[in-house]
Amino acid sequence: MRTAPLDAAALEACISAAVAAPSIYNTQPWRFRLDQEAVALEVRAVPERGLRHADPVGRALHLSVGAAVFNLRVAAAHVGWAPVVRLLPDPEDPGVLASLRLSGTGRRHTAGHRPDLYPMIWRRHSSRFPFSRRLLPPNVRAELVEAAQTEGASLTFPGAAETARLLRVAMEAEHRNRADPDRAVESRRWVHPGPDDSTGVGIPRVALGPQDALEQVPMRDFTAQRHPERLPAQPFEPVPVVALLATEHDWRSDWLRAGQALEHVLLVATAHGVRASLLHQPMEWPDLRRDLSHVPDLTGHAQMLVRLGYGPEGPATPRRAPDQVWSRSTTGQPE
Ligand SMILES: Cc1cc2nc3c(=O)[nH]c(=O)nc-3n(C[C@H](O)[C@H](O)[C@H](O)COP(=O)(O)O)c2cc1C
Repeated sequence: MRTAPLDAAALEACISAAVAAPSIYNTQPWRFRLDQEAVALEVRAVPERGLRHADPVGRALHLSVGAAVFNLRVAAAHVGWAPVVRLLPDPEDPGVLASLRLSGTGRRHTAGHRPDLYPMIWRRHSSRFPFSRRLLPPNVRAELVEAAQTEGASLTFPGAAETARLLRVAMEAEHRNRADPDRAVESRRWVHPGPDDSTGVGIPRVALGPQDALEQVPMRDFTAQRHPERLPAQPFEPVPVVALLATEHDWRSDWLRAGQALEHVLLVATAHGVRASLLHQPMEWPDLRRDLSHVPDLTGHAQMLVRLGYGPEGPATPRRAPDQVWSRSTTGQPE
């Protein structure tokens, strides 16, 4: 077992990978701390970056952190460590969402994922643009389903009628979001007018994409204004491919598992040249989230709707620098 501290370059690679994960509104609600004695990375939530109106219980925050944990696992394995993850490791400190013990032999590992995912971490971007009519091949669907299952979640591709129903539920959620003044203000706060915003969080306007002129795919209007000049409508794919990510239970650990599953699915999709955007709006209204869970053959709790297809790559969004999000401790106390 390797017990020497991580070298600086490997550590920076791991943290850069973690922060490249998707997060709701690009809030990046995470912090990392290296415990050098235990050779473990602790992942903490940053509750100040939570969304009081859209995500009052912090479910989406846990999904976001779960996605960062998956990237950490992929990067740690890439630099030669065999990460052992514990979710919610400290009952006395609920702010610690995960810890990764980093032991290994120095050779590359693939901790339960295909070996080529590391570069996908930076190639993956949300693509909120219309996709083509090209369908996802069955082998790609099967691999995405398997990726979710590896993380203890399920991914279901419903049939045409059920997909249409899911999109209608998501559309209802989108309408409610726009009509809710608190949520609208909260959402707008995370949209930046230009590419040179210095905060390193939030979504630049170029990444927002258009609305669906066919009014079938409920793309989130982050500006909650539906202003035609800002979000010119375009026809989206007439037969959207949507997959439902779900977990058997609905505890905080399930939300973290769902986040890891989401990122595993997104990175495998990226490896196949498949783009994705997320439709999380119905998860933000308890009655609509329950409606989503009534998919045939599904037992469990809906965690995310993922729209998949072939189309333009989404633009990169900003990230906070690694040195802004991690600290080092040898005593068990933060610096
Ligand atoms: C829990 C969660 C919920 C999200 N909800 C939505 C959504 O409803 N609509 C959307 O377009 N993107 C959604 N996203 C994607 C984020 O906006 C996106 O990850 C973030 O802006 C960073 O951009 P990137 O994915 O291109 O790296 C969500 C991401 C997460 C993790």
